[in-house]
Amino acid sequence: MAEFIGMTSLGADYKVLVLGASGGIGSAFAEVLRADPRCGGVIGLSRSVDGFDVTDEDSIAAAAERLEGSGSRFDLILCATGALTIDDIGPEKAIKAIRPDVMAAQFAVNAIGPALVLKHVSPLLASDRRSLFAALSARVGSTGDNRLGGWISYRAAKAALNQIVRTSAIEIARTRPKAVVVSLHPGSVETRLSSAYAKGHDRLPPTNSAMMMLSVLDRLEPAQSGGFYAYDGQPIDW
Ligand SMILES: NC(=O)c1ccc[n+]([C@@H]2O[C@H](COP(=O)([O-])OP(=O)(O)OC[C@H]3O[C@@H](n4cnc5c(N)ncnc54)[C@H](OP(=O)(O)O)[C@@H]3O)[C@@H](O)[C@H]2O)c1
Repeated sequence: MAEFIGMTSLGADYKVLVLGASGGIGSAFAEVLRADPRCGGVIGLSRSVDGFDVTDEDSIAAAAERLEGSGSRFDLILCATGALTIDDIGPEKAIKAIRPDVMAAQFAVNAIGPALVLKHVSPLLASDRRSLFAALSARVGSTGDNRLGGWISYRAAKAALNQIVRTSAIEIARTRPKAVVVSLHPGSVETRLSSAYAKGHDRLPPTNSAMMMLSVLDRLEPAQSGGFYAYDGQPIDW
């Protein structure tokens, strides 16, 4: 089990928002953080439970408005939404399998969705103290690390997500100089997203992945904001 001693870099009573809290990794984030005695509360939102759909801007804006109305400010926001298979269509294996509608759906969920989360939800990051925002990306979104090919739409959408996070981090630093805004690769994790592709691969239990990513976030400095990091803290090539 990965060692996680709590979010030591955040103030006592820190507040957390987990988006995609119904997912394998999102639910692990919520569970681990709720068990941290210094955590002052975790709000979890998801599509299946709360109608929080990242492909529906109105649902994101409405959620942000509700949170804003309740005066909530968050020390830590985790965007754990994402999909590899959408409407029963998995990632393409070859160029000839590219379908514009499938590629557009990948971009809607994995790139534009988190961009809209940044648009509506990042203003809820605390501005007077250290705050953390992480979006779950994937190592396969790295252009420099791409040796196997395949999965063009998912890879491209995650690469776009990384650029969206980096660009947003630069802007957010102007009003929140203590903020850290990053993309994280969770490892290969035992969730339904990866189950069809697990054969021959070791996968991390979601709790271990969540604990390791939280430990990484806890150590990152504002100078590292905008980066792309793996669950073990290693920076990943763009
Ligand atoms: N598992 C891995 O090995 C692995 C590896 C690399 C990267 N990742 C990334 O890690 C993230 C989390 O994946 P996971 O493994 O935890 O998968 P998961 O168990 O399938 O969870 C996916 C989560 O995303 C939510 N979601 C999907 N489409 C959505 C939409 N349109 N609007 C709002 N929420 C949506 C799901 O919500 P509902 O269930 O409520 O619909 C669920 O909460 C993803 O971004 C994935 O790309 C995972």
